[in-house]
Amino acid sequence: MDKLFVIILVLNTLFVSFLSTTFYYVFLPIPFNEEDELFNLTIIHTNDVHSRYDQINSAATDCTKEQFDKKKCYGGTARHKTIIDKLRNENKNTLLLDGGDQFQGTLFFTYYDGELSSKVLNLLEYNITAIGNHEFDYGPEMLTDHFSRLTMPIVCANINTTLNPTIGKYIKPYHIFEEYDLAVIGYITETTGGISNSGPTISFNNPIPIVQNYVDELHSKGIKRILTLSHNGYGPDKELAASTYGIAVHVGGHSHTLLANDSTLPGYGGPYPTVIKNAKGEDALIVQAFWSGKYIGHLDISLDNNGRIVNYKGEPILVDQSIAQDPNVQDLVEKWRAPFDNYIKKVIGVSDGDFDQVTCQQEECSMGNLVADAMLVTRNESNAAIINSGGIRSGILKGNITLADVNTILPFKNFLVEIDMTGQNITDMLESAVGRYKNKISKKAVTSFVQVSGIRFKYDSSKLIYNRITSITIRNPKTGLFELIDSNEIYKIVTIDFITNTGDGLIPYPITDVIPLEDLDVCLVNYIHDQRIIKPYLDGRIEDVVPKYDIKPINPNEPIHFRYTNLRESIDFKDGTTQIQNSRVTTRSNVIIKYLLMVFYGPFF
Ligand SMILES: *[C@@H]1O[C@H](CO)[C@@H](O)[C@H](O)[C@H]1NC(C)=O
Ligand SMILES: *[C@@H]1O[C@H](CO)[C@@H](O)[C@H](O)[C@H]1NC(C)=O
Ligand SMILES: *[C@@H]1O[C@H](CO)[C@@H](O)[C@H](O)[C@H]1NC(C)=O
Ligand SMILES: *[C@@H]1O[C@H](CO)[C@@H](O)[C@H](O)[C@H]1NC(C)=O
Ligand SMILES: *[C@@H]1O[C@H](CO)[C@@H](O)[C@H](O)[C@H]1NC(C)=O
Ligand SMILES: *[C@@H]1O[C@H](CO)[C@@H](O)[C@H](O)[C@H]1NC(C)=O
Ligand SMILES: *[C@@H]1O[C@H](CO)[C@@H](O)[C@H](O)[C@H]1NC(C)=O
Repeated sequence: MDKLFVIILVLNTLFVSFLSTTFYYVFLPIPFNEEDELFNLTIIHTNDVHSRYDQINSAATDCTKEQFDKKKCYGGTARHKTIIDKLRNENKNTLLLDGGDQFQGTLFFTYYDGELSSKVLNLLEYNITAIGNHEFDYGPEMLTDHFSRLTMPIVCANINTTLNPTIGKYIKPYHIFEEYDLAVIGYITETTGGISNSGPTISFNNPIPIVQNYVDELHSKGIKRILTLSHNGYGPDKELAASTYGIAVHVGGHSHTLLANDSTLPGYGGPYPTVIKNAKGEDALIVQAFWSGKYIGHLDISLDNNGRIVNYKGEPILVDQSIAQDPNVQDLVEKWRAPFDNYIKKVIGVSDGDFDQVTCQQEECSMGNLVADAMLVTRNESNAAIINSGGIRSGILKGNITLADVNTILPFKNFLVEIDMTGQNITDMLESAVGRYKNKISKKAVTSFVQVSGIRFKYDSSKLIYNRITSITIRNPKTGLFELIDSNEIYKIVTIDFITNTGDGLIPYPITDVIPLEDLDVCLVNYIHDQRIIKPYLDGRIEDVVPKYDIKPINPNEPIHFRYTNLRESIDFKDGTTQIQNSRVTTRSNVIIKYLLMVFYGPFF
């Protein structure tokens, strides 16, 4: 080794130690120059807004006057405008980014077919956007129309549009902001093909090697300041951040994760920003801003000449009623609302409590019981009802329930179907759901948990995948009683067309000869209307026999692999151990899982 190289090496090590107070050896191709001028950037970001263009309540449905008077309304494009203008005025270098899933969720989307999503992104003058899986909900053609209206670059590096050049021409892997000498690389969850309507002409690849290739390409062009903008989920983003280098910040979406300083906030998923050691041991930051526009992400960073993080500070901004609505924007929003406003205000029933949707991807939830009960009551000659948790999009608060609420809860235009399943088929399906990885039979990715009615099951999440279900009983429609399931018996199950098309990977193969029955949203409207007053409840129909643990990493400096299940986050260490962390429970105790699953999970949104 020559002398200069050794000196550079020592300097580098000292410098990095000084910055991060850890002792990673970092090889820098270009020696650090003390004269480096820091480049400061203010990152403003949103994700998974899901068409919440008007203000919402804490269940992410339309805000009522009563809730407004109690100062319990949040979000909305008009408040976003106020915050964004202020941050842009106060900071020299800013970028406004969206992590995808503007589509789907309210009548602002269903009534206007995505037209308002383009209007809002243009109105707020986003500098760049990623693509979310829900952008494909109405197929690539409608998405192409949306893209054709957008005035900002659309980035996605791991989408393959070779067979669909019409949409492909609007998408690029990265965009360089010349003014800042900075590039933003986009990517999307590899599971998009299985959870959306992207169709046969579009496919998705593993983002990790692709993103790294583009980083290397940008380095060869002399661009060192690199961010990513994605719709991939918090867990997979951590995996990507740990497996790549040369990226300062990952701005994400998809898992609806609230990253914040205050771990007591409802929905808290990790620190803001989350700091990960990248493949070269340098810091990479991950940010995400919940969903529904209730928060706007705000991160200030300083980068050195090599694009490395030197300093950062930030916190998501809670978009509550202390933030004024921009009057011009709110006028527009009200104009957009007018054509459907009277219709959706129709009261269909009353709720006697708050129905929880937030936990539906982890366990039995009161919203899941409501929807599955409604399905089974509608088709009461079936043994049981099964629905994917991902199809249930919001909760219900105590008080009047309107058509607008139901539209927000069940925005997808799904219909009921009845299918025959053997006891073995049902067991396989539940094993796949609690395995949270791949379908037991087809090995297609499983991207949602389930909610049920007419079935009670227990599982043991500490057991090996596909061996977790410990008991299942199923309703006999003739007697209304629950009986032990028989593998060879044939049962009638009411579910939705999304599932029979193998959506979320819950059944192995598509069932094509189904008869469309009631619309799912109509089924829920009728159920609520017939009951008049509904009450949230849990009855233990889904039970994990393992108590919930929250584990402190023993060796946090050396994680080699992250997995994420929504329920638990697990970290594999170099010594071959795995630790599982349950981010939703506060008691801390230790569990070491002795076997290492050779997989990592995608989140369930
Ligand atoms: C950049 O931010 C740092 C704080 O991280 C500050 O000390 C410095 O003055 C800023 N530089 C410019 C040019 O604004
Ligand atoms: C970001 O968008 C704002 C508003 O349109 C614009 O003024 C600014 O120049 C853009 N920033 C960059 C780096 O292009
Ligand atoms: C993209 O899709 C085309 C058509 O299916 C295929 O031939 C090609 O190998 C794919 N490319 C990548 C990088 O996946
Ligand atoms: C977040 O917490 C850290 C550590 O407690 C603190 O240093 C920082 O100032 C906090 N940030 C904000 C924006 O409150
Ligand atoms: C099924 O629904 C029909 C029509 O509402 C009702 O008459 C019947 O009693 C129900 N059967 C069961 C087993 O609940
Ligand atoms: C609930 O709906 C009923 C009937 O439409 C209406 O009379 C009542 O004022 C509503 N209550 C609230 C709190 O909005
Ligand atoms: C039932 O199991 C068989 C064998 O694994 C499989 O071929 C079939 O697709 C399954 N049907 C359903 C509805 O899961």
